[in-house]
Amino acid sequence: MKRRDFLASAVALAACSPVPPGVARNISRYGLAQHARRSGRHFGAAVKSRLLREDAAFRAAVARECDMVVQEYELKRGTTEPKPGKYDFSGADQIVDFAQEHGMLARGHALVWYAANPPWLEPALDAANEKTRQQLMTSYIDVAMRRYAGRIGEWDVVNEAVEPNEGRADGMRMGSMWMKALGEHYIDIAFHKARDTDEKATLFLTDFGLEHDSPRCERRRTALLKLLDRLMGRGVPIDAVGIQGHLKPYKERFNERQLADFLRMLSGYGLKLSITEFDVADRGGPPSPDKRDREVASVAKAFLDVALDNPAMGSILCWGLSDRYSWLSNFPEYKWPGGQLSRGLPLDAKMDRKPLWDAIAAAFDSAPAMRSASA
Ligand code: G3I
Repeated sequence: MKRRDFLASAVALAACSPVPPGVARNISRYGLAQHARRSGRHFGAAVKSRLLREDAAFRAAVARECDMVVQEYELKRGTTEPKPGKYDFSGADQIVDFAQEHGMLARGHALVWYAANPPWLEPALDAANEKTRQQLMTSYIDVAMRRYAGRIGEWDVVNEAVEPNEGRADGMRMGSMWMKALGEHYIDIAFHKARDTDEKATLFLTDFGLEHDSPRCERRRTALLKLLDRLMGRGVPIDAVGIQGHLKPYKERFNERQLADFLRMLSGYGLKLSITEFDVADRGGPPSPDKRDREVASVAKAFLDVALDNPAMGSILCWGLSDRYSWLSNFPEYKWPGGQLSRGLPLDAKMDRKPLWDAIAAAFDSAPAMRSASA
């Protein structure tokens, strides 16, 4: 999308910004989770256990704004199983304990991912026979889900399974160690194991790059829908799809109808939906933080209005809560060359609410009720 096109649409959208610039941001005593609850939904954030331990202001902000949390990295196998069969869940335990202390829900991220695995795993897969390869994958599902049964209510069972850029006709992620070891049926095996291990848990398939009006995202949406056709046709017990929601409005266009149609196709499978890693990469935006904040808020509002208009959309989680700690500020594609912090989360580095906070609150406030589980 050309910057001037984006600006034109953002300025138009800014005119309907939920709160005009300059109004005191911290006027609402309610957190975002209370705004979410009005339509029966949840709001949460990814957190790091160290920040909950060491940053009292961040900890208080999470308690004020969220009713759901997810581990930013502490439940990834590279962190929890540094040696075969030797587990360290200390970080994840702290986050789940925090959730329970504050009456929050907790998600588990992620049981089977091509990334963030311990270095011993891929060589072990390469050397194993089919049965052992399956066990190398399902052993982690078993240990992690049994440990948190009853305390983690939903899991990202398989994360980022598609990657059309790697050239497979079906758009599957060819570079995944799981794909190489077991073929696409690794997904079937993972979800059946997860269902057998904790039948009460909601099981998610999650992915990114599904949000924008771009050839990249269109290829990813198509690959995911085709994958779901195959998986649902094989009776794989998937309950929900997580759209990560990492927006990049200064690089790719956003088209409300296109996203609404995609979400309708997903919920058409009878699947629940969540936005599981929402944030907005603001690199490439105007130099003025205030102006950039307003534009970010406007595109976020447009995105969330569409997402929350789908009755299957149950939760919105941000990938972080405050610009003080966003991964965007360190990731090569998104970080600012001058080193300033990305401003893609609802709270600024001082934990004060920004226009993006207002946009999320306003999107929740105008959202229709979600489809109840029994529907
Ligand atoms: O905590 C250790 C520290 O003790 C050690 O000294 C340091 C150097 O190795 O590493 C620290 O762990 C890092 C961790 O973040 C906490 O900062 C890991 O190396 C680093 O790989 C990890 O990066 C995370 C990344 O996923 C890979 O797991 C990011 O925080 C996290 O934001 C990112 O999140 C992903 C989602 O899982 C999937 N969707 C995309 C999203 C953004 O990339």
